[in-house]
Amino acid sequence: MARNGLVYEYMFIAIIVAVLAGFISSLAYYSYALNVNPACEAIKADQQALDDIVRKAQTTPVVEKAEGVYEVYIVGRQFVWIPSNIVLKDPKQVTFYVATTDVIHGFEIAGTNVNFMVIPGYIAKFTWYPPKNAEGEYLILCNEYCGVGHQFMKASLVIER
Ligand code: CUA
Repeated sequence: MARNGLVYEYMFIAIIVAVLAGFISSLAYYSYALNVNPACEAIKADQQALDDIVRKAQTTPVVEKAEGVYEVYIVGRQFVWIPSNIVLKDPKQVTFYVATTDVIHGFEIAGTNVNFMVIPGYIAKFTWYPPKNAEGEYLILCNEYCGVGHQFMKASLVIER
């Protein structure tokens, strides 16, 4: 009897190890093979650095550093993204610098792997390599509840090819 019980113990341990290995390898598959990157680089920023992002977002939000290589400056605040409309011509590499002037917002470009939190006191930096078939208008939304107007917080990204 005792020996039988032990067999079941080992069986269940083996099942648990297999399930865990399955979960971990599927996570690894999503993050590496499918290039799904939920996290961004959060750069600690003082008031001057944050003001700089606000100024760029209001004046020159899109900077083309080389052909198809862009830097985009965006500010989130209750309940808008500034700028509200971004147009990129044939982008290959897009680095977003996003800051908030009030509370936490979530920056997401629907239908892409661009999705990260924007935290007060930090500049969220994320480099996106748009797929070749990315074209047309994309919805930028806020996916972190930030107040009564949260659901109105959106902008548009247009990719021209
Ligand atoms: Cu900003 Cu929700």
